[in-house]
Amino acid sequence: MIKQAIIPLAGLGTRLLPLTSVFAKELLPINGKPGIEYIIDECIDAGVNEIIFIISKKKRMIKKYFYNDKFYKSLIKNKKDPRIIREYKKILKYKKKIKFVYQNKPLGTGDAVLKTKKFITNNYFLMLLPDDLIMKKNCSKDMIKLHKKYKASVMASMTVKKNNVNRWGIYSLSKKIDKNNFVISDVIEKPSSKEAPSNNAVIGRYILSKHIFKFLKKQKKGKGGEIHITDSIKTMIENKFPFIGHKFSGKYLDCGSMKGYIKSTIEISKL
Ligand code: G1P
Repeated sequence: MIKQAIIPLAGLGTRLLPLTSVFAKELLPINGKPGIEYIIDECIDAGVNEIIFIISKKKRMIKKYFYNDKFYKSLIKNKKDPRIIREYKKILKYKKKIKFVYQNKPLGTGDAVLKTKKFITNNYFLMLLPDDLIMKKNCSKDMIKLHKKYKASVMASMTVKKNNVNRWGIYSLSKKIDKNNFVISDVIEKPSSKEAPSNNAVIGRYILSKHIFKFLKKQKKGKGGEIHITDSIKTMIENKFPFIGHKFSGKYLDCGSMKGYIKSTIEISKL
């Protein structure tokens, strides 16, 4: 059973400057709702009951957002606005499920995951990257189904343009399981188009086993001087841990870049 999810939120969001100079990118509105709420809703709908947020001192406003129930309560006391009551109930529901851990130095996704080690109680857990929104179909739910069936780790995948592979982690595919799923034989973080073994990119949904922590502890810095989760996954695959790639069918929105962020509001408003 996958009951725990982790979400790295300590990133600086430089691609969204100036919007992120004082504001957390994950709280920026996407069609009238903070981006992070889409991610939380996906987790809850997939059956997750504990969500671990990895934040930094600079991103404390994220904690404040989810701990602001007293403010809502005081508003409701004087004015029984049904919309505010709904928002209040929603915040309370989220607050019950969220735990916070800190990553104060932006050393990479791998380092962020390592910070959650002592909180992970199950053998497998879900990780979602908040820049990657997947709408219309719950990707986490579909991946959990696959995990149950194959008892393997699962990662989301999408085909990208060949000249754009250096923006993503890229998979090597060993065999097809069916139309939407394949066995992963290797993964490389942001390869050049020459190095890239395919144009199947890693998208930010991962079902990982607790064993990843052993590998992360020993993980050396990779591309850009960061500790990448992709590099530890690569070592796990070399050590015969099974990983499945899932070509999700929902609509992908890249909220981490300015162009993608703007587009995401337009796209979601059309759904
Ligand atoms: C991260 C991962 C990368 C993956 C991408 C998906 O990169 O390191 O492997 O393809 O997320 O969004 P980032 O977006 O943090 O540069």
